[in-house]
Amino acid sequence: MNVLVTGGAGYIGSHTCVELLESGYGVVVVDNLCNSNPESLKRVQEITGKSLKFYEGDVRDESLLRKIFAENEIGCVIHFAGLKAVGESVAMPWEYYDNNLNSTLILTKVMKEVGMKNIIFSSSATVYTADNEMPLRENSRTGNCTNPYGWTKYMTEQILSGMAHADKEWGIVLLRYFNPIGAHISGRIGEDPRGIPNNLMPYITQVAVGRREKLSVFGNDYDTPDGTGVRDYIHVVDLAKGHVAAVKYVVNNSGCEVFNLGTGTGYSVLDMVNSFVSVNNVAVPYVITERRPGDIGTCYADPAKSAEKLGWKAEKTLDDMCRDSWNWQKNNPMGYGE
Ligand code: NAD
Ligand code: UFG
Repeated sequence: MNVLVTGGAGYIGSHTCVELLESGYGVVVVDNLCNSNPESLKRVQEITGKSLKFYEGDVRDESLLRKIFAENEIGCVIHFAGLKAVGESVAMPWEYYDNNLNSTLILTKVMKEVGMKNIIFSSSATVYTADNEMPLRENSRTGNCTNPYGWTKYMTEQILSGMAHADKEWGIVLLRYFNPIGAHISGRIGEDPRGIPNNLMPYITQVAVGRREKLSVFGNDYDTPDGTGVRDYIHVVDLAKGHVAAVKYVVNNSGCEVFNLGTGTGYSVLDMVNSFVSVNNVAVPYVITERRPGDIGTCYADPAKSAEKLGWKAEKTLDDMCRDSWNWQKNNPMGYGE
């Protein structure tokens, strides 16, 4: 079966292409490369020894999508394509609503036309409200998002679940990711953010490799064991395997189901820095600064539903995540852009 992967050249998409190819699926990628480099797809093929088909273009381009469905027999779509920077979404709300909502609306319009109604969507733990008790379950409260990016994930969940409610032919899986980090064990593909990284692990690796002077730890007065923020970090290869499990699920089940993809364990910012330093034997200088506006103290998943219904569980350890993040960064100090 062929899987259409939108945004397949990106960080999570490229790792998912590897796992799909290694599980025997055919892979067709559509990506406009607005936040990625086609080198990632070359390396996916090099890692797996298998080829994939790549269409460079925008998911909002209806005629391109019709052409892709006409030229390939697609059994399932994984929809990664979208913009993902929280701060940028506050500065450019229109671009975020346009890209993230219209990509889904146009994609599903063409899917309806061709009668292929299995889709997996990249949602986020950001859809959960800040006042939930931990761990977060799929039926924890959602909404009250604090930025346009979060609203696009929330609204897309509403759009897709409404469609599944109205038309029983749809099979829809909403995957709520926690904090993906790490890289493929080969060190050939990994996260390659443009500009100054927003997220913790790429910032740590860029400090370790000498691209940035020191890490700012955003606040040490949270109600957590060491006062720094606690998150559920998940290895991107585990996350990618969660998508393969979701493909198997969605082609056999109609309706709309939500699944957390997390480990169920929270680590603090200082846990991350200390593990990274001890596993890799490199220095990561840091300073404690003010809290980052909009951050919460603690966020971690209850992954029990994914284990039960998808038969999927994260397997890699924090040491694996730290080792593989560093292996990617040290072998590719400037990411794909060398
Ligand atoms: P990424 O930016 O590396 O990948 C997204 C890809 O989509 C990029 O290759 C980009 O060029 C492409 N793209 C964007 N808009 C497009 C469009 N209109 N048409 C075609 N291609 C387009 O991001 P990622 O970290 O791999 O995230 C993938 C998905 O997972 C996103 O939807 C993101 O919001 C979601 N997500 C990511 C995280 C995370 O921490 N990385 C957490 C939760 C959810
Ligand atoms: N942090 C620092 N210094 C940094 C970067 C981050 O101390 O330079 C801290 C943050 O304060 C937080 C933790 O490291 O405590 C993790 O921060 P990230 O930015 O890596 O991740 P977030 O949990 O804040 O954000 C992630 C995704 C968002 C998504 C959000 C909620 O990046 O897209 O989870 O699901 F919206």
